[in-house]
Amino acid sequence: MKIIESPEELQKVTSNYRVQGKKIGFVPTMGFLHEGHEQLIRQAKQQNEIVVLSIFVNPLQFGEGEDLNHYPRDEEHDKEVARKLGVDIIFFPTVKNMYPTEPAIKLTVTKRTNVLCGKSRPGHFGGVVTVLAKLFHLCQPSSAYFGMKDAQQVAVVEALVNDLNFPVEIVPVPTVREPDGLAKSSRNVNLSPQEREEASAILKALQSGRKMIQDGETGIENVKTAVNTFIENNTHGKIDYIELLSYPSLEPVDKPMGQMILATAVKFERARLIDNLVFDSNGEII
Ligand code: PAJ
Repeated sequence: MKIIESPEELQKVTSNYRVQGKKIGFVPTMGFLHEGHEQLIRQAKQQNEIVVLSIFVNPLQFGEGEDLNHYPRDEEHDKEVARKLGVDIIFFPTVKNMYPTEPAIKLTVTKRTNVLCGKSRPGHFGGVVTVLAKLFHLCQPSSAYFGMKDAQQVAVVEALVNDLNFPVEIVPVPTVREPDGLAKSSRNVNLSPQEREEASAILKALQSGRKMIQDGETGIENVKTAVNTFIENNTHGKIDYIELLSYPSLEPVDKPMGQMILATAVKFERARLIDNLVFDSNGEII
């Protein structure tokens, strides 16, 4: 396993692989790897000859007051996980490597961003697509792997590659969950034991909303209210949003139609949890 810090070196190495006709699978992360990330790496490994994992806590996607400096890090653990899963290259750049000077160009996301998590994080997805545009150029992947846990990110990244013609296939990977249904996240360790127990209600609430649609409910507000009530009755968390939107365009819908996302964010004392389900108008999971 190669560990590369310099963007120029990564581009040289991946250019060589491309010349040899090798398929490169890319897994971008901010490190502190857990089983969600591991699943992305495993899938990339199955579908490509070379797997590149990037670990970079991207300052551009953190807003004021979002604690960039306290983002959890564990380089040694991450290297061990990568080695165990057969990663070929870890790209571990420093902030200076990626942004030697204040960037003169930053991308702006104009759609799919003023809803869900994007609403309360202005500029966040601009920072995400700016770093991904750089990483795609450096890594030159045939496919890049993203978790459906962050479904809005998948929708925005699909728009990035379509609108700017990146020759990269975006591969969405289903959310990896704990046995009780809670989506795996590095934030879960910040839940108190009671909150941790309550947090399994988030997926149950989303499933109950999906079931209503499956059973023929057409009122979007009725579904959202039921999900809201379920979470309120079963947790002490504060609901940030519950949305039912078209997917991946993330537009409001008046009745169940096409592909949709039912998503929520719930704030506990020291952790804000997000989760979602994507399904069709019959409530069938996609
Ligand atoms: P990060 O939060 O480290 O997540 C890296 C990838 O892991 C994302 O695609 C995310 O959706 C996926 N992931 C996290 N938890 C998951 C779970 N439980 N199941 C499946 N996949 C999961 O997302 C980012 O980093 C950054 O925004 C990045 C894309 C690297 C750009 O900086």
